Amino acid sequence: MKVLFTGIQPTGELHIGNYFGAIKNWVRLQHQYETYVSIVDLHAITIPYEPSEMQNRILNLALNLYACGIDRENTTLFVQSEVPGHADLTWIFNTVTPLGDLERMTQFKDKARQHRKNVNVGLFDYPVLQASDILLYKGEVVPVGEDQVQHIELTREIARRFNARFGNTFPECKEILTETPRIMGLDGESKMSKSKNNHIGLLDDKETLWKKISVAKTDPARIRRNDPGNPDICNIFSYHRLVTPEEERKEIAEGCRTAGIGCIDCKKRLVENMHRELGPIQERYNELLLEKDTIADILESNNEHCREVAKSTILEVKEKMGLKPVWKI
Ligand code: TYM
Repeated sequence: MKVLFTGIQPTGELHIGNYFGAIKNWVRLQHQYETYVSIVDLHAITIPYEPSEMQNRILNLALNLYACGIDRENTTLFVQSEVPGHADLTWIFNTVTPLGDLERMTQFKDKARQHRKNVNVGLFDYPVLQASDILLYKGEVVPVGEDQVQHIELTREIARRFNARFGNTFPECKEILTETPRIMGLDGESKMSKSKNNHIGLLDDKETLWKKISVAKTDPARIRRNDPGNPDICNIFSYHRLVTPEEERKEIAEGCRTAGIGCIDCKKRLVENMHRELGPIQERYNELLLEKDTIADILESNNEHCREVAKSTILEVKEKMGLKPVWKI
């Protein structure tokens, strides 16, 4: 079986951008591949964070992912920092990665702008750590949102460079995108993200959904109830594409174009449909809260498995590079 590898940062609550942009694909594909999902805490510490919250965030992220449908039996969900090998391989890959490749990374430029007072080397090196995550497990398919495609291209480039210099070792991985790989935020201006506070949380209840959606922007040309609208440019309609069945969606689009349906009704129906999709996840999450200890044990045993896989790759890499193939923890 080919290896599927993906990762997610424990940076706070999940949002529907994570879910419809990436996680849905993990759930869909997990039985077709040998699947690894990493909670990437070493990535998360490249931006300001609260140390006392970190362990709770990690466990909570695991609960969320299991609630979304990640299969405990089949998928290896593990914690990146508990597996030595990720950071080791990063250092090694640093030596085959041209500075200019990292300077081109748009996510680095965005984050550096957002965290002007903390543009640390880790933030710059973030994509190399990501390449190490994938290649440590010899991952071939990487399901992610569109914002990560540039990092996957870089991963291929790093694999090529390493293979050319030290002999064939790593596969060239491929990204897999969902049908909706870039979910916009409620502001309609930028990608949905927690740091921009423009998100719909995966655990938002119906009331919270309404609070957020009722004030969100629609087609700006539709000022009065009788103005016809254009669903193709309306951010709210882009959310209907995520959760509303096709027939109903067609009817709403037609209603919008002919001013037969107003923005408030359109939003009410979105809240109903969004809640129908998120409600079952929220119920499972609440059940899983009672199983925290079991989940912590599963993570620990998965970490152990990953340490074994990492060991074998690191020994192979060291040997090929002329370093003594020794692994001691
Ligand atoms: P993170 O935690 O920022 O995002 C997790 C996943 O959610 C996707 N995503 C979105 N998709 C569509 N629309 C959005 N608005 C949106 N916001 C987030 C991301 O694309 C991602 O797939 N760098 C990775 C973490 C990582 C990783 C890896 C991924 C570390 N190592 C190895 C794959 C393989 C990240 O962005 O996480």
